[in-house]
Amino acid sequence: MEFFETIDNRRSYRGIFNDTPVTREILKLVIEAGIKAPSACNKQTPAFIGIDDPEIIKQIAAVIPKPACETAKAMIVCISDDRPVYGEISFYKEDCAAAVENMLLALTSFGYSSVWLDGVLRRDGNAEKIAEILKVPTNKRVQILLPIGVAGEPVPKSTRLPFEKRASFNVWGGQV
Ligand SMILES: Cc1cc2nc3c(=O)[nH]c(=O)nc-3n(C[C@H](O)[C@H](O)[C@H](O)COP(=O)(O)O)c2cc1C
Repeated sequence: MEFFETIDNRRSYRGIFNDTPVTREILKLVIEAGIKAPSACNKQTPAFIGIDDPEIIKQIAAVIPKPACETAKAMIVCISDDRPVYGEISFYKEDCAAAVENMLLALTSFGYSSVWLDGVLRRDGNAEKIAEILKVPTNKRVQILLPIGVAGEPVPKSTRLPFEKRASFNVWGGQV
């Protein structure tokens, strides 16, 4: 898939996945795309857990009982580490975000769908519950969860504001 086509085709998918499996090889390539993302001071704070054990997927789906989790054929969890990397400043959220976008684009290029689950992890202690399932050390946190599979339903495309509302040239509001 051509680069801009991949960007255009990526969308959040929250429906059920069909039975197409996600191989370990694909998961490795997608995680590799996450590893190649930039990180502040190249400190590479995010870590990744690829999940292809149906029993573990089931346990996570019990914490996040949404169709995409309940029917996911695989998952990737992005684990953050909030240690300071630039003086006292930590960039763990930005590091994870860069890695996750790379992985979402890689998944799209392979014809898989996913959704960036983040907000839902911050409620009801869900991130901590998943951390326990995955045996994540207590000094790290489950930041983002990607349920993965091939979409079993049409994927609605979300809209974006017009270019001129989002961007300008040379100065704020400068003509595009
Ligand atoms: C930081 C962040 C957190 C998000 N958290 C969630 C979430 O918890 N649950 C969810 O369904 N989607 C979540 N999303 C996905 C957004 O809702 C989605 O990207 C947005 O609606 C635009 O749709 P699109 O991804 O199809 O272009 C999150 C996205 C980002 C960037």
